[in-house]
Amino acid sequence: MPQTLLTATNIAHKFDYELFSNINLELKEKESIAIVGRSGSGKSTLLHIFSTFIKPNKGEVTLLDKNIYSLSEEETEELRRYNLGIIFQAHYLFKGMSALDNIEIATLLSKEKIDNALLERLEIKELMQQKIGELSGGQQQRVSIARVLSKKPKVIFADEPTGNLDKETAKLVMDVLLEYIEKNRASLILVTHDVEMAELCNRSFKLERKVLKEML
Ligand SMILES: Nc1ncnc2c1ncn2[C@@H]1O[C@H](COP(=O)(O)OP(=O)(O)OP(=O)(O)O)[C@@H](O)[C@H]1O
Ligand SMILES: [Mg+2]
Repeated sequence: MPQTLLTATNIAHKFDYELFSNINLELKEKESIAIVGRSGSGKSTLLHIFSTFIKPNKGEVTLLDKNIYSLSEEETEELRRYNLGIIFQAHYLFKGMSALDNIEIATLLSKEKIDNALLERLEIKELMQQKIGELSGGQQQRVSIARVLSKKPKVIFADEPTGNLDKETAKLVMDVLLEYIEKNRASLILVTHDVEMAELCNRSFKLERKVLKEML
């Protein structure tokens, strides 16, 4: 039986107004899920809820069989460090440092090795000595993806990971992500505006009128 990596039950959240309610989702190993929806519909908020960064007004999230609201701060930190791979809209690379140093920080923290084949696959191996500030937006995006995958996470949350990329490079990044989850029995939740990228995932959902609906 494939292991369930994430379960979200009856999630509701509001800021100034109610964003969504009664959201239920189950994510198994080797599974990829896409979430699409209009700007402002709450996709990033939902990803922050699934990945422990926002506590919703209502509902529960279970990651790797742990109810995340019963964890201590240290346990939450550990879960993020070893098991979650977070690729958010703003990528937090250290600008003054080289691409390699940025990736090394993540691998040292998670006690993993840098995967040179991955760097080659993402076409960033030659850029490793360059400072982040000298790289293009799309190159930085691929460095941040390499940094996340080098940690060997179990659940990857990606918010528009192909947003800055041309079609060909976007497809390359998607292929790398999908190969990664297959090989490592991991899983992916992808937020995207790009229907073609969503179609590459196993299942697609639309966040619309406060509900998350599967697109069949
Ligand atoms: N920390 C916050 N405090 C108050 N309101 C917030 C906060 N974060 C998000 N919002 C509001 O919640 C709504 C949904 O935001 P969110 O970023 O989740 O949308 P999104 O679907 O990811 O949009 P986009 O496609 O533009 O990235 C927006 O109206 C936003 O202003
Ligand atoms: Mg967003």
